[in-house]
Amino acid sequence: MTTSTRPKILISRAVFPQVVERLSQYFDVESNPGDELWSRAEVARRLQGKQGAFTTGSERIDAELLAACPDLKICANMAVGYNNFDLPAMTAAGVLATNAPGVLTETTADMGFALLMAAARRVSEGERFLRAGKWDRWAYDMLIGQDVHGSTLGILGMGRIGQAIARRGALGFGMKVIYHNRSRLPASDEAAVNARYVGKEELLQTADHVVLVLPYSAESHHSIGAFELALMKPTATLTNIARGGIVDDAALAQALRAGRIAAAGLDVFEGEPTVHPDLLACTNVVLTPHIGSATVPTRLAMASLAADNLIGYLVHGKPVTPLNPEVMGKA
Ligand code: 8YV
Repeated sequence: MTTSTRPKILISRAVFPQVVERLSQYFDVESNPGDELWSRAEVARRLQGKQGAFTTGSERIDAELLAACPDLKICANMAVGYNNFDLPAMTAAGVLATNAPGVLTETTADMGFALLMAAARRVSEGERFLRAGKWDRWAYDMLIGQDVHGSTLGILGMGRIGQAIARRGALGFGMKVIYHNRSRLPASDEAAVNARYVGKEELLQTADHVVLVLPYSAESHHSIGAFELALMKPTATLTNIARGGIVDDAALAQALRAGRIAAAGLDVFEGEPTVHPDLLACTNVVLTPHIGSATVPTRLAMASLAADNLIGYLVHGKPVTPLNPEVMGKA
């Protein structure tokens, strides 16, 4: 392809140089190696005359932005979640949306387990206690927590990542797995991890460890609030590796403070990167800054899949993981 006929793309955030390099073989690329935080107006300005956008969960793509960027044909998200996309608006504008499913499943499930275990076994509290020089003797009840092995694991949202967590629980830790999901899994998938489908209330009442892995949407907003937390066992833990906003963070902080549940592990927050001050004040919650997929091979695989989608669509007319394939051929 000659330089003049090459499509133009914007990479909105800093990514692996080798991915930028690969994209540069096909496109005229404007990238952001300094990882500056561009305003929406700045993103829209830089998208002028560009056919493709390499996005992350940080950029909201909605009707307003699309109306300002008439040349745009595809937004490739370097994330499996795509609640930053207004998908109906993208479809209406004839803009293809792609995400990055599959490549982060096992890594994100590992992180879910790390948080679950850290919350149950009070790992962060223990480290803070030790570093503060408070460890001066053994005591039978020093930092005693809850068992993970042999307990009941309750998974809300049983997609790829939910099932990967179920495998870890059932096969690695001898846990009984119960789950709730919009639709029930095929019997063979349930049998693989000996999972039992239950209603949401039964799950909250029965599970020793609840893990949230459902997508964020208007329906899942505050799926876990004061009412749901009150259903949980006082010895239970809650782990959220899905999206902030699924949990009512103020209600969770209150439940943690009052000991209505034992502990929580959170990788995602309402309004992140800001974290609710009441959560920051709780000792029985493990907090991580949205790093569920943050391993070198997985982030590289996510970036590469976003790049494959841009090249696939803009060069060959065949994206790898389209979310609204109905726009293809209509442009
Ligand atoms: C991303 C995520 O790192 O894939 C997702 O949905 O939440 C994370 O893995 C984040 O969204 C940035 O794109």
